[in-house]
Amino acid sequence: MQSELRKQLLDAFTNAGESYLSGQYLAELIGCSRTAVWKHMEELRKEGFELEAVRKKGYRIIKTTEKVTADEIMLGLTTSFIGRNIHYEESVESTQKIAHRLASQGVPEGTVVIADEQKSGKGRMNRNWHSPKYTGIWMSLILKPNIPLTKAPQLTLLTAVAVVQGIEEITGLIPEIKWPNDILIAGKKVTGILTELQAEADQIHSIIIGIGINVNQKQEDFPLELQEKASSLFIETGKTISRAELIRCIFMHFEKLYTLYLEKGFMPIKLLWEGYAVSIGKIIKARTLTDVIEGEALGITDEGVLKIEDQSGFVHQVYSADIEL
Ligand code: BTN
Repeated sequence: MQSELRKQLLDAFTNAGESYLSGQYLAELIGCSRTAVWKHMEELRKEGFELEAVRKKGYRIIKTTEKVTADEIMLGLTTSFIGRNIHYEESVESTQKIAHRLASQGVPEGTVVIADEQKSGKGRMNRNWHSPKYTGIWMSLILKPNIPLTKAPQLTLLTAVAVVQGIEEITGLIPEIKWPNDILIAGKKVTGILTELQAEADQIHSIIIGIGINVNQKQEDFPLELQEKASSLFIETGKTISRAELIRCIFMHFEKLYTLYLEKGFMPIKLLWEGYAVSIGKIIKARTLTDVIEGEALGITDEGVLKIEDQSGFVHQVYSADIEL
C-alpha cells in the first residue's frame, strides 16, 4: 500500500492542476523535509512519471505512466473513500484472491486491489477471465455495507451502473447491461463483474466486487473462442483509452451511487439500472448451474433478483444465471 505521505503529495498535485508546486510548499503542506519530498519525486520519476523541475517555481507532473499503479490512479482522484487505499501488483493469479485476504485482515472499506495482469482471472460460473498484461482493468473492490445477505445482489447491479456511467463519460459510447452484470457494447461483452462474499450466518463481513474491463485489446488479442462474443473499448472507439482515467471515473461514480444507496436504499439505483438494461421485456433463456428457464424477463425484484415468466405463467426468481437473448 502507498504511504500517507505519498497520497498527500499526489493529492497536492491533483489540486494544483497545471501549476508548479515548490519543494518548500510541499514540505510545509505535508509536514516533512524537502529531502523527503525530493525522494518521493525521484521515486515517481523511476516509476515512469515525467516530471518538470523549474528553478524558483518547483515541480510539475507533465506525463504519467501507462501502468495502473496506485500512484498513477491517485493523481487526479477526488473520491473520499473508494480507491483511497490501493494495493497494486504488476502480475497476480487473481485480484479476488488478494482482496479476500486483505478483507479478512480488516482493511478499510473502499480498498481496491488492482493488477496489470492476471494469470488465473476468475469469471462467473467457474469460468476463467482472460486478463492479458497492460490492456485491461482487472480490479477487486472491498466493501463493508451493513446490509443483510439477501441484499448483496443489489451491489452487483449498482457496480454495473457505475461502470456503465464511467465508460459513457470517458468514451462517449452507450453501453447496455445484460442482467445481472455483463456490460455490452454493440452486443459484445466488454465488462464482467464477479461478486463474492465473506459472511457469517446472515451477517456480511465484506463484499468483494471483481471488475474486469476489456480496454485496449485489439481483436487479435482475444482468444479465438472469445472473438465473436467479446470486445474492448479500443475496438469500439478506435482510440487508446487511459485505464487510470477510466478507473478514477468509475470510482467517482461508484462512490456517488454507493453513498446514495446507503442513504436512500436500492430504489434510485434500480431505476438507473433499468434504464441501461437490455434483457427486460424480452424472451430470454436463463442457464443456471442446474437448470434452463425460458420465458419473458419481467424485470428485477427490489432485491435485484431477475423475474422470468415461463409459458405456463409461473414466475421464476433467478439469482444467478447466464442469459441468452
Ligand atoms: C464474469 O464472468 O463476467 C465476471 C468476470 C470478473 C473478472 C474480474 S477481473 C478482476 C477480478 N479478479 C478476478 O479474478 N476476476 C474479477
